[in-house]
Amino acid sequence: MKSRQINEKGVTMMDLQLEPLISAEKLQTRVKEIGAELTKKFGGKDFIAICVLRGSFVFYSDLIRTIDSDVICEFYGVSSYKDMKSSGEVKLTLDLATPIQGKDVVLVEDIIDSGLTMNYLQQNLLARGPKSLTTVTLLHKPAAKKVDCDIDIVGFEISNEFVVGYGLDYQGFYRNLPYIAQVQNFN
Ligand code: IMP
Ligand code: MG
Repeated sequence: MKSRQINEKGVTMMDLQLEPLISAEKLQTRVKEIGAELTKKFGGKDFIAICVLRGSFVFYSDLIRTIDSDVICEFYGVSSYKDMKSSGEVKLTLDLATPIQGKDVVLVEDIIDSGLTMNYLQQNLLARGPKSLTTVTLLHKPAAKKVDCDIDIVGFEISNEFVVGYGLDYQGFYRNLPYIAQVQNFN
């Protein structure tokens, strides 16, 4: 990563002007609430928590540590995004290592934009016959929705702007920002 300057407008990293949107403290507070909701929902029963790679890995790793149940961690890789615009197709890059048939499953996503990825994930996972499927997303852009998908738990609803940080990237960068920032200088 190149230079990083902080000024009154926010942070400039590489050639992007970033405006902090959700602080690290707010993220941690909401993550704990979601963890408590999942703990309550499953009441001590074990379940499989699926991390959707790569965007949700930071949220996921914080979330699973707030859950007071036995959790099996699974990883599912999809790619649907090229730069700032959805490519319109979802590609499987890493399949689950464990069968989910008859199991309680929690799907953990970073962000729902058009809804295409979540729709694909839901269809794909439901076809494997889980006992239940609970969907969690850290961020949701309701204004960008094009395809229907069921979401059980949303961390934050945000406006239809491109965001980075806390796992979310732009061209592979910014995933390690500890907060969510809105990109200011995109057309
Ligand atoms: P969708 O299929 O259009 O809902 O897009 C979902 C995927 O696109 C997410 O899982 C992210 O990986 C990526 N994405 C959507 N919006 C953003 C954003 O604002 N910043 C970074 N990645 C995004
Ligand atoms: Mg994602």
